Formats: sequence, structure tokens, C-alpha cells
Amino acid sequence: MKEVLIIYYSQSGQLTDILKNIASTISDEKVNISYYEIVPKKKFPFPWEQEEFYGAFPETFLQIPTPLESVPSEILGKKYDLVILGYTTWYLTPSIPINSFLKSAEAKALLANTPVVTVSASRNMWIMAQEKMKKLLIANSAKLVGNIALVDRNLNHISVITIVHWLMGGKKTKMLGIFPKPGVSDKDIDAASRFGNPIKAALLQNEYSKLQDNLLEVGAVKVDSSLIATDIRGNIVFTKWADLLIKKEGEERGKWLVYFKYYLLFAIWLIAPIVFIVFLLTYLPMYRKIQRDKAYYSSVELK
Ligand SMILES: Cc1cc2nc3c(=O)[nH]c(=O)nc-3n(C[C@H](O)[C@H](O)[C@H](O)COP(=O)(O)O)c2cc1C
Repeated sequence: MKEVLIIYYSQSGQLTDILKNIASTISDEKVNISYYEIVPKKKFPFPWEQEEFYGAFPETFLQIPTPLESVPSEILGKKYDLVILGYTTWYLTPSIPINSFLKSAEAKALLANTPVVTVSASRNMWIMAQEKMKKLLIANSAKLVGNIALVDRNLNHISVITIVHWLMGGKKTKMLGIFPKPGVSDKDIDAASRFGNPIKAALLQNEYSKLQDNLLEVGAVKVDSSLIATDIRGNIVFTKWADLLIKKEGEERGKWLVYFKYYLLFAIWLIAPIVFIVFLLTYLPMYRKIQRDKAYYSSVELK
């Protein structure tokens, strides 16, 4: 009997649905699947209030852990052949609950020397978060063998508008009845079951060297090259903002978070389009690098 553990944190349940669909084609009489949901001691709100949403930025970006409820002993007591780790991106970084788990002693116990497949469901900016994830897994002596990254496939700026409607309103519905539904589409959520087949084959043979290639063949990752530069630049600027905000307390912090909110709006609506135009203008001379980057960020390697 092969033992698989699915570890996850999802507020709306979108990621949970994706993971269950993947699991549906892995589970059979030879595979036992267990689930462990990460539970922070102090719950993050859903739907979000603006203050809490922006307030979560410094601790998320600086990867400062928050206390979690303990992992149940029946989960901790077993050795797993494979772990599937479902996470979402907050501020270009794995979310606070996932980061907190990966910095715990329990994560070390569960993940050491264990193959891990990461599954993310973000808006569309997940690439640098996955680089941080690769490092967190190495720190736990885990072996990243596969990655599935699902996103909102609508235009970047459309998804910015619709995600606010979803995260602040709590309902994954068409805003004003005319915008597309936010997040990963229902079709992509349902079709996630196809990723279970290559995972199951690798699990049963205990041979993971070709797993990521096989996952890529069924569309597990589509790197949007135009977003790589925005993600990298965003990380540079976020480092400065996070270092500044973490030192502020009380009312001062509240005031600076408002400035940060306006900076974010400015970055999304003005800087990101400029970065996109530069990407288009330099596409031909940069073609080879773009292809190299695409291959690297689709892989499970860490530079
Ligand atoms: C505080 C916060 C920050 C987020 N930042 C990003 C981000 O930087 N990039 C991205 O693609 N999605 C971002 N998202 C969207 C999430 O990755 C995710 O898709 C969404 O919150 C739904 O996740 P759920 O399964 O927990 O409901 C953010 C969400 C929240 C709540």
C-alpha cells in the first residue's frame, strides 16, 4: 500500500477542489490518501477587509511564521511515499499559513527525504513564490519532483479587478454580471483530475525523474514570460516596502499601509503595463533568454 499525504491551506475552497480532483485519479486499492489542512491559531479572514488584506503584506513577504494548530498525531505518526503540497501565493510569496507550516518541526518530520509535488492556485503571479517554495522544501530535506501551477487565465488587469470582487466580497461570481468569474476556471478545476495519472504512475513505480516532463505534457504549468520581469521587479520593490513597514507599529503602521495600498495600485495600473511594453519591444533580441527562462521556471530545478 502506498501512502500519500495531501497538505493544504485554502480559504475559499478553490484549491481544495483542485486537490480532490487530482486525488480522484490517484486513489485506488493500492494507494491510501490522507488530508491535512493547515489551521492557523489566529484565523485569516475570508472575505477580507482592506485593512487586514494590506496588513498581511509585511509578514507574508518577509516569511514570518504565525502559530499553527498542531498536526494531528494520526497524520504525524505515518511515513508517506509522496506528499502533495497545495498552496496559494500571497504577495509573490507562499501564503503565511503554508510558510509557517514549512518552518515548523512537524514539516521536517513529514517531509524529510520524501518526494513532494507542489500544486498552486493563484491569480497569475506565482513564479517567484515557487522559487521560494523550492528553497523551503530544500530546508526540509524534501525532494521536489513535480509542480502544477493553475491560474486565472483572463487578462492580467481583468483578473486584478475580479479577484478584488471575490476576495473582498467572498463570492466567486461574475462581477456586475459582465466580468468573467474570478480565479481558476471551473473547467480547469474539473480537468485537474488529469494530473493524477502521471503522479500515480510515478508513485507506483517509485520513479519520479520523468514526472515533471510528464506533467508538462498534460499542461501542468504554463509560464507567462511577460509576467516574469514584473514578478522579479515586484520582489525587489516589495523588499523595500516590507523592511519599512515591519518597523512601523500601531497608527503609524496603518498610515504607511495606506501608502502601500496606493503604491500597489500605481504599480499594477502604471508600472506593470510599462514592463509589459518593454517586454514586447525587447522580445526578439531576448528570445533565447525568454525560452531558457520558460524552461527553467517550468522545471523543478533550483538555480
Ligand atoms: C493577501 C493575498 C495576496 C495575494 N497575492 C497574490 C499574488 O501575489 N499573486 C497571485 O497570483 N495571487 C495572489 N493572491 C490570490 C491567491 O493566490 C489565491 O488564488 C486566492 O486567494 C484564492 O485562494 P484560496 O484557495 O485560499 O481561496 C493573493 C490573495 C491574497 C488573499
